[in-house]
Amino acid sequence: MKHTKVKALLSGSKVNTEVNAKGWVRTFRNNQFIALNDGSTIHNIQCVVDFENTPEETLKRITTGAAISVIGNLVESQGAGQKFEIQVTKLEILGDSDAEKFPMQPKKHSLEFLRENAHLRVRTNAFGAIMRVRSVLAHAVHTYFQEKGFVYVNTPVITGADAEGAGEMFQVTSLPLDNPPRTEDGNIDYKKDFFGKHTNLTVSGQLEGETFAMALGQIYTFGPTFRAENSNTSRHLAEFWMIEPEVAFNDLDDNMDLAEDFIQYIIKYTIDKCQDDLKFLEGRLLEEEKSKPQADRSEMALLEKLNFVLENNFKRVSYTEAIDILRDSTPNKKKKFQYIINEWGADLQSEHERYLVEKHFKCPVILFDYPANIKAFYMRLNEDGKTVRAMDILFPGIGEIVGGSQREERYDVLVEKMKALGIDEEELWWYLDTRRFGSAVHSGFGLGFERLVLFVTGMTNIRDVIPFPRTPQNAEF
Ligand code: 4AD
Ligand code: MG
Repeated sequence: MKHTKVKALLSGSKVNTEVNAKGWVRTFRNNQFIALNDGSTIHNIQCVVDFENTPEETLKRITTGAAISVIGNLVESQGAGQKFEIQVTKLEILGDSDAEKFPMQPKKHSLEFLRENAHLRVRTNAFGAIMRVRSVLAHAVHTYFQEKGFVYVNTPVITGADAEGAGEMFQVTSLPLDNPPRTEDGNIDYKKDFFGKHTNLTVSGQLEGETFAMALGQIYTFGPTFRAENSNTSRHLAEFWMIEPEVAFNDLDDNMDLAEDFIQYIIKYTIDKCQDDLKFLEGRLLEEEKSKPQADRSEMALLEKLNFVLENNFKRVSYTEAIDILRDSTPNKKKKFQYIINEWGADLQSEHERYLVEKHFKCPVILFDYPANIKAFYMRLNEDGKTVRAMDILFPGIGEIVGGSQREERYDVLVEKMKALGIDEEELWWYLDTRRFGSAVHSGFGLGFERLVLFVTGMTNIRDVIPFPRTPQNAEF
């Protein structure tokens, strides 16, 4: 007999027939009621065991974490809390789980504890929900772009380029660390390395993406990117997933329109498809909020917050206007936002971003036209000669979720900028070819996928929205 997923069983279509369910025991009450979960939904199916006719030995083996298979009649349940249940006639233990040793006990565990058990935490309600939401968000990303005719491009993970020029790369080498070959002047001889040159893991697929946009018109990447920045924060991962659309003939305004439409679409898509998981996560958050002082509690519940983003335009503000706002702001009494910027040209810290989004505008904000000297080399210089057509999208509770720009399409201006920053023209000869042959206005952005998952699930630590987080001193699994 083929087994049926719990999600389908709970839809009721097979009521009053014999069914088979397979999954993992969450709890076993009164030697009679099994709460069985198979990952297809946040909900468990109740399996009622005929304990009088079940051997004592088998009953003992129905423990939290055990894998089992049950066959029985699917009936409408008389008990509160579930619509349907299985009246078990046959039960098989597929894999035992020692109840004393199984770390995922049927109680609330701290997120820290769960992180240390990243391979098992997915068996909890919260992580099951988060991972299903993450998967649907990924599907939404592809659906959005595919429906609009964008081409999905897989840019290389190993590259010689530092797209962001921030020097935060993980090196890739096949040379022996203890005794690498050296050139005559004593430097490591990367010509003898696997690729015949120095390489690293990609920090962004943008530069390669641009070359494809200049042929295919509109493309997007969606893949892992790597940053060796030593930021041990709740918003940074060393390995994170980024979505990078790139569009020929789009200017910065088109780029902002695309980003806003895209984000709203994928959130809406996920609300529609993940009602049960999001309601569960919302309930979990409401519980958490209760333990906080009134003043620190969130003003909106999770789904309300998501709908707010769908229903309101993102506020578009230039960097210069933002600096004026920050300068005029008074430090919050609780010192949450004490770093008031006085200087035009300084980069915004996350405190500033959050002040603008959460206290001043109270909605997602797109900041644009940043000072050239705090942004990457490839951004289009404005006519004022000191700002670039950059945009960052800032979200409540998160800060920067998107970074993007109109690209410098003028060969001479780009080369001039690279020279000024000491970026090797020869290394990026292929990138410069896009400006040599048929250059045109084009724009794109990068959305940090985990930051979006954070926002949609209401979680607060980025380590909790990726299956196996990589952070400084941590790559256990
Ligand atoms: O602002 P960033 O560095 O922009 C780029 O990489 C551009 N090449 C994108 C483009 O224009 N195609 O990164 C883009 C986004 C950030 O806004 C943030 O959401 C996310 O990537 N991000 C990180 N997410 C998690 N951990 C990190 N260490 C991140 N660094 C950036
Ligand atoms: Mg950025």
